[in-house]
Amino acid sequence: MICLSTQELTKDFGGVHAVRDVSLEVRSGEILGLIGPNGAGKTTYFKLISGFLRPTRGRILYRGREISGLQPNQVVKRGIATTFQIPALFPEMTVLQNVVMAGFLRSGISIWDSLLNTPSIRRKQQEMQRRASDVLEYLGIGDLANHVVSSLPYGHKKILGLGLALVTSPEMILLDEPFSGLSPVETEGMVALVRKLNGERQITILLIEHNLGAVMTLSHRIAVLNLGRLIALGTPQEIRQDKLVVDAYLGESDRAA
Ligand SMILES: Nc1ncnc2c1ncn2[C@@H]1O[C@H](COP(=O)(O)OP(=O)(O)O)[C@@H](O)[C@H]1O
Ligand SMILES: [Mg+2]
Repeated sequence: MICLSTQELTKDFGGVHAVRDVSLEVRSGEILGLIGPNGAGKTTYFKLISGFLRPTRGRILYRGREISGLQPNQVVKRGIATTFQIPALFPEMTVLQNVVMAGFLRSGISIWDSLLNTPSIRRKQQEMQRRASDVLEYLGIGDLANHVVSSLPYGHKKILGLGLALVTSPEMILLDEPFSGLSPVETEGMVALVRKLNGERQITILLIEHNLGAVMTLSHRIAVLNLGRLIALGTPQEIRQDKLVVDAYLGESDRAA
């Protein structure tokens, strides 16, 4: 079954065609890797889906319903969460408070409402605290709940970034470079977490990544963007052998290496 599809999705920034006519279908339950050289349009494609940018042209359908033009928190409510390359965290708050805050903000409840001391808000607060604690336990960072975020190593901040997405109980997560900046050991841990979310919770995952090793082992299928266009789609094996991909991307990293 198809959960997300984009049809001729296009985003221009002035004269720059960041995303051009991208038609792509994501299947329910799969891990789809999205790769391509710097500037290929990967992050822009994510921002279009998550509602942070409006398409110039084209459509985005989630479970058969149009979602283009929705606000980010409405997209979250439909079941799609996003993690950012650099996690957007409140550095002076604790790990648990960050997850609670994300749970409120991303579902469209204002900070001010969440701070009101009415019985119904108190109930929601307690519920959200419980949900946030569960998320931290699930991600294996429960023992960090009361640590201040600014004191965390980068690897833990990236895991926390995943927590901010998970607290909204998504059916699908868009991960923008979850392994960037991680050590090999941290990368292994993050790969295992992504696999666990997909395997145990059947969360559909769309994954942007520069670490080709990680993306090739994790993904069921891989889509390749170059200059805003989708130039290839296939299994990791097929992508490794694709002439266009090798020229556009793999060749480039070979030359760099
Ligand atoms: N807000 C913006 N304004 C103008 N140009 C942008 C903006 N965001 C991205 N771009 C341009 O769009 C292209 C695609 O960028 P991006 O989606 O960030 O690529 P990637 O994530 O694949 O590295 C690049 O040429 C980039 O400079
Ligand atoms: Mg990017």
